[in-house]
Amino acid sequence: MVIFGGAGDLTKRKLISAIYYLAEQKLLPDNFALLGVARDQNTDEGYRALMREAMTNSDEIHKVNDDVWQWLCERTFYAGGDFSKDDAYVNIEKRLTEIESRSPRQDRNRLFYLAIPPSVFETTLKHLCASHLASRTHSYDERPWARIVIEKPFGRSLASAMALNRLVLDEFGEHQIYRIDHYLGKESVQNILVFRFANSIFEPLWNRHYISHVQITAAESVGVEGRGKYYEEAGVLRDMFQNHLLQLLTLAAMEPPSSFTADAVRDEKVKVLHSVRPLIHGDCEPPVVRAQYDTGTLEGKTVPGFRSEPDVSPDSLTPTFAAMRISIDNWRWKGVPFYLRSGKRMARRISEIAIQFRSPPLLLFGQKAVEEMSPSVLTLRVQPDEGISLRFQVKTPGAMHELIPGLEITPVDMDFTYAEAFGNDAHPAYETLLLDCMIGDPTLFTRSDEVETAWSIIDPLLEYWDSHPATTLPTYPAGSWGPEEANKILDGDHTRWR
Ligand code: BG6
Repeated sequence: MVIFGGAGDLTKRKLISAIYYLAEQKLLPDNFALLGVARDQNTDEGYRALMREAMTNSDEIHKVNDDVWQWLCERTFYAGGDFSKDDAYVNIEKRLTEIESRSPRQDRNRLFYLAIPPSVFETTLKHLCASHLASRTHSYDERPWARIVIEKPFGRSLASAMALNRLVLDEFGEHQIYRIDHYLGKESVQNILVFRFANSIFEPLWNRHYISHVQITAAESVGVEGRGKYYEEAGVLRDMFQNHLLQLLTLAAMEPPSSFTADAVRDEKVKVLHSVRPLIHGDCEPPVVRAQYDTGTLEGKTVPGFRSEPDVSPDSLTPTFAAMRISIDNWRWKGVPFYLRSGKRMARRISEIAIQFRSPPLLLFGQKAVEEMSPSVLTLRVQPDEGISLRFQVKTPGAMHELIPGLEITPVDMDFTYAEAFGNDAHPAYETLLLDCMIGDPTLFTRSDEVETAWSIIDPLLEYWDSHPATTLPTYPAGSWGPEEANKILDGDHTRWR
């Protein structure tokens, strides 16, 4: 496995601990080797020390086992070089030849991980091909294989995503390309399909007849965490909506696939994206609200506003929060709004999909109006506290007065949590995804048409804002649930953000 960006933030924070966990579970073959590639001058020894330190500091690992680390350490190497120069690739080839000489030819499979800024994807991919470090294979079964993992963001617009797809597919087969969206590796996200299609009690209700609306939230309490420069250019739409939120939407809304193969699942996800009604319609205001966090209080501490973050312009108009109403014009979902919302520096870290059911047609108990009663809600909690809960109404205990108006109704929860059912050793998303790349299962990766269709939803919105530049953006205090304006896109008098 060759990681371009081997000394970068992603490798240190996520990838090395995922590889460590795979080693710990003995899921890596004996002839596994990791080659970190970065610009810095370093030795194998120096790189190993860097990785060990990264693991010690990583919040993904509780305790590093010395034997496991020793196993991995012996298989960890380093190659320095500038990705835009031929020399770097000559050096990588030299290192790979040494490392691979221990394995028979058919086992010299190569997984290239591009954990690098998008601005260097193109040059790196071109060099990978030109240097023959990675070559096209004609089928999934061919050995040895070369596979390429591409980190998000995959393009920054529809046109650039298409250009990047053209570039990779000119040189490689789709079966060699793994476009990563780490949300798909989360246990609770993978479980959405199992929950929906391995139980027969929910699916009959999973449609416009019983569901009033769906709220998908990915709220973060962190700010831009030293990534001000990247974030200024990306903003929340590119950073969270084009990928993670639309992925959650497809899993919640898709039809049952014909089988659980990668293409069957991805075909159904793409169909949902194709059914999303365009957000830009003539000159109408799009059903979208953007905002930016201002200074505020989080966990008792004052935190600065976005405009005061390092590498952020003091008059930046980059949104750090967005909320949108999505309509899916298909047989199942016509008329059921999907509300999506994500923001940084919100009150709490919470990602979830909440399915709100319709109210009963009339209320037989008490004097409350149907609308005043809290509806039944099924919540798929993606993180933290991964689990599923079902909220429904019960009678509040106590004698029932002979006059019915006295009867009280209370909402209660039926709750499943992963931690209680399976213990606390959740596997990090990257561990699942790296293993899938190695065994050649692309189900949890985005296919070229999927990534482009997702862009075709977000891109017109970005273009609309480019052509209707705002002079100000609504703000929300750090530590809050977003701006008041987010209520504007809710349909129906009794719909509230959770
Ligand atoms: C990344 C975004 O893709 O996802 C970050 O670039 C965001 O801005 C992160 O913080 C959220 O991931 P998670 O797994 O912490 O919810």
